[in-house]
Amino acid sequence: MWKFPRPIKHKIPEARWPAAEEAERSILYSPIAIGSLEARSRTWVPAMVPWRATDDGFVTQQNLDWYRRFAEGRPGVLVVEATGVRDIPSGPLLRIGDDRFIPGLRKLVDVVREASEGQTLLFIQIIDFLAVKRRPEKSKYFQRFLEVDEHHRGALAEVMNDKAWLTAHDNALREFLLNAGDDVITAVLRPRELEALEFGYRERVTDMHLRHIRDLPQELPGIFAAAADRAREAGFHGVELHYAHAYTMAGFLSAQNDRADGYGGTRENRVRLPLEVYRAVRNRVGDDYVVGVRFLADEVIAGGSRVEDAIYYAREFARAGFDFLSLSKGGKFEDAQQPKVGQAVYPYTGQSGYECMPTVLSDEIGPFGRSVPLVAAIKQAINESGFSTPVVATGGIATFEQAEEILRKGQADIVGMARQALADPDWFIKVRLGRGDEVRRCTYTNYCEALDQAHRPVTCKLWDRVDLDEPGIATVDDGRRRLEPPHWATD
Ligand SMILES: Cc1cc2nc3c(=O)[nH]c(=O)nc-3n(C[C@H](O)[C@H](O)[C@H](O)COP(=O)(O)O)c2cc1C
Ligand code: SF4
Repeated sequence: MWKFPRPIKHKIPEARWPAAEEAERSILYSPIAIGSLEARSRTWVPAMVPWRATDDGFVTQQNLDWYRRFAEGRPGVLVVEATGVRDIPSGPLLRIGDDRFIPGLRKLVDVVREASEGQTLLFIQIIDFLAVKRRPEKSKYFQRFLEVDEHHRGALAEVMNDKAWLTAHDNALREFLLNAGDDVITAVLRPRELEALEFGYRERVTDMHLRHIRDLPQELPGIFAAAADRAREAGFHGVELHYAHAYTMAGFLSAQNDRADGYGGTRENRVRLPLEVYRAVRNRVGDDYVVGVRFLADEVIAGGSRVEDAIYYAREFARAGFDFLSLSKGGKFEDAQQPKVGQAVYPYTGQSGYECMPTVLSDEIGPFGRSVPLVAAIKQAINESGFSTPVVATGGIATFEQAEEILRKGQADIVGMARQALADPDWFIKVRLGRGDEVRRCTYTNYCEALDQAHRPVTCKLWDRVDLDEPGIATVDDGRRRLEPPHWATD
């Protein structure tokens, strides 16, 4: 994980919990319209990938138990993890790229409805991502992956001051580079080849030499629309289009997107495909179905989109008819740390990753409500343009007072809590009942995020070793971690 040079260790904010009557009167626990629906409160659990699906992308019993547990806490809205829109293998991540995934997803919907007694709206986040390969062994890269051409021959001849390399056999060149020093390798490989060697091969939306990338604007609207239709068929109350972090749609919105086909360059062009995808989804699911979007208030990378871009996108999204705007920050590949050989680069290890899931080791601002000023600027801009699309703020929000103040000041319409909900999915009901002092408080040190990085089932350090001898509980790691938090008795 990336760290500030001289981090300041922050304490988690003191909490004064409201009595039940105060909670009942609060803005946080007041209803809000989201499209044609109404959320019972302005509380929201944003998408979190728990690594519990089958390798083929199907819903497992562990997925059902995980979402049941969140639903028992009765948040206003619960968003199911990033779920792949394509019918391609993608490891133990949920998928919605074919009708065969619908029955499992329908079960998930049923479980949440039952556990929340119909009090929680359930949305599903739908995502497209491009290829990211693991960092290869050096020998494998030079012997199998590098496509030797005139560029390499010329560069090697120059750096070694030896014209014989101009006519050298491919294999001789591969062998030489395999044993060469870093300075020679850096001089000979193109920047993207060097990246493939040092980080693993990764596609970008700007790889116009690749046909499937060139064709994304023709392909994606239909793929997203079909996925959204399946979400509706499975019974979800709505879909959240994932336009944030390191994935395809965020790549189109990025200020780094310089595609020259009308889908890159200016802001107007960068937002074109995201709007076309939205329209295709809307046409398929109809006006009465909730369609929202998650996107970045700031990419936090050099040459990336800033809040001014996000304000522009937010206006366009609101104008187009999205039913909610959920803001996140950072989470990009561009500044991620180098992975170990055999592992894939993880987009939450650089500064942009820090900004996405900030920890208590921070700068003077600290992790708590760190993105709120950006969200407030975005909300103000769309409201001033005459749009009242609900805006969701997330990032280090942990206490009732923090949440209520954000709402009271009009900085956001809904408050999201990811890690705090993972630490204690009963936060929402405990606080509502005036029992906030029983909340298990997240420490914002990202043990959960490290598990996510390792593609291991995500749990929280505050509860995954508690009552391991409880009969019938599901565990991992040879029984050393429980998969769900212990139940909370309301009486
Ligand atoms: C384990 C884990 C998995 C996550 N998976 C997703 C995801 O699938 N989609 C997404 O938009 N954000 C994802 N996030 C980011 C969260 O939704 C949230 O934006 C972030 O954790 C900051 O909010 P917090 O401070 O309340 O935790 C994930 C976060 C964690 C900790
Ligand atoms: S593991 Fe740490 S950061 Fe993650 S939810 Fe638990 S307490 Fe919070």
